[in-house]
Amino acid sequence: MAQIAHLEAFTRLLRTRAVEAGWIGSNDRHRVWERHVLDSLRALACLPPGPTDAADIGSGAGLPGIPVAIARPDLRIYLIEPKLRKVAFLEFAVEQLELANVTVLPQAARSVTRQVKVATARALAGPAEAWAIGGTLLEPEGQLIYFAGRSWSERDAQALRAVGVSCAICSRPRFAWHGPLVIMGRSTA
Ligand SMILES: C[S@@+](CC[C@H](N)C(=O)[O-])C[C@H]1O[C@@H](n2cnc3c(N)ncnc32)[C@H](O)[C@@H]1O
Repeated sequence: MAQIAHLEAFTRLLRTRAVEAGWIGSNDRHRVWERHVLDSLRALACLPPGPTDAADIGSGAGLPGIPVAIARPDLRIYLIEPKLRKVAFLEFAVEQLELANVTVLPQAARSVTRQVKVATARALAGPAEAWAIGGTLLEPEGQLIYFAGRSWSERDAQALRAVGVSCAICSRPRFAWHGPLVIMGRSTA
């Protein structure tokens, strides 16, 4: 299947260039597929169906944005990343993998004027800060899919709700090194 071949090709790019650049720890060199590519694909369980605009905020080396773009070619995905070396890698990967549904935006989230229905944030910041960075990019009913750390607790959820952010777990951790995926949105209550 072409999508698997593309995911494997992206894994090879990460194993060489992203590990070399220090964006992925050398301990993960032989488990890039499990720890980064399959981990990124957990977002699929939380994404809305059908074609729409999406953003990956703080995409780094393309995680989770590139695996998601490969798996969901119906999405138009904007990879938002301000660091220029990472931007160069993202542009190279997009070209190598011929990802027609991906656009790299070489800027910080605060200077992006486009709004999207859904965004992802993995290893970007703590929950409240990730919402502060990403919430402004969302349409009024938009959702942020946040890759929470293992320390995620009901206290984090309460802190978000206290500032008007709804949140619900959309994918539970399956391995000891996983945290849950949390969908955040503007509270209507
Ligand atoms: C720890 S890396 C994580 C990269 C990737 N998401 C991952 O899971 O491997 C965080 C990335 O967020 C980017 N970043 C930090 N603040 C940002 C902001 N305000 N807007 C966009 N990107 C930001 C950084 O440049 C960095 O590449």
